[in-house]
Amino acid sequence: MELFLDTADAQAVAEMSQYLTIAGVTTNPTIITKSGKAPEEVFQRMNAVLTPDQKFFMQVVATDYEGILAEARQICSLRPKNMFVKIPVTHEGLRAIKAAKAEGLGVLATAIYSPDQAFLAAMNGADYLAPYVNRMCNYGDGVQAVRELQEMLEVHGLASKICAASFKNGNQVHELVLAGAEAVTVAPAVVSAMVDHPGTKIAVDEFTQAWNAAYGRTTFKA
Ligand code: E4P
Repeated sequence: MELFLDTADAQAVAEMSQYLTIAGVTTNPTIITKSGKAPEEVFQRMNAVLTPDQKFFMQVVATDYEGILAEARQICSLRPKNMFVKIPVTHEGLRAIKAAKAEGLGVLATAIYSPDQAFLAAMNGADYLAPYVNRMCNYGDGVQAVRELQEMLEVHGLASKICAASFKNGNQVHELVLAGAEAVTVAPAVVSAMVDHPGTKIAVDEFTQAWNAAYGRTTFKA
């Protein structure tokens, strides 16, 4: 199971990597533009906080086959290893995914709204498939669609991993983890909310108060 942070915020990645097992970071053009930073700066800051074993995903902006493939090569050359290109599943995108995989590039097929789109990208060898779970829920049952995709991949022995994306809350993440998604990419704020529970805070406060009342300190040893 891989947990990716869906963000351009390198500081959040550095902080959360201290207390969570973060497999890497995904971005998309919207996430990068919203950061207010140039894409080159986003890359440099993120690369500085990621370990070589953590994966980093950046997305092509071009929409034509030649442009997508050229950007895929540029993106994948940014780090010696664990650098992946995200390519939207369109006619041109599928052609580029096929070519990029023939060149041995790491590819995540993205902007996926249906199991069929994902399955076709898997047939072209994409390493990861990113169904946009929350957005898919505007058209039907996004979670069920990803379950079906999982079954389709298993039945046909395709090796692509599902990297479920586009989550708005922890419950959606929970459902996909339960359904067996091999990877999820989640915004730092949603991951942080998954850690917090009011009951845990009440329990910790109770322990501290009891200890302090009995021994006059808030540490184990004096
Ligand atoms: C990740 O790879 C996707 O680009 C991202 O999760 C999309 O999320 P959104 O629906 O919040 O834009």
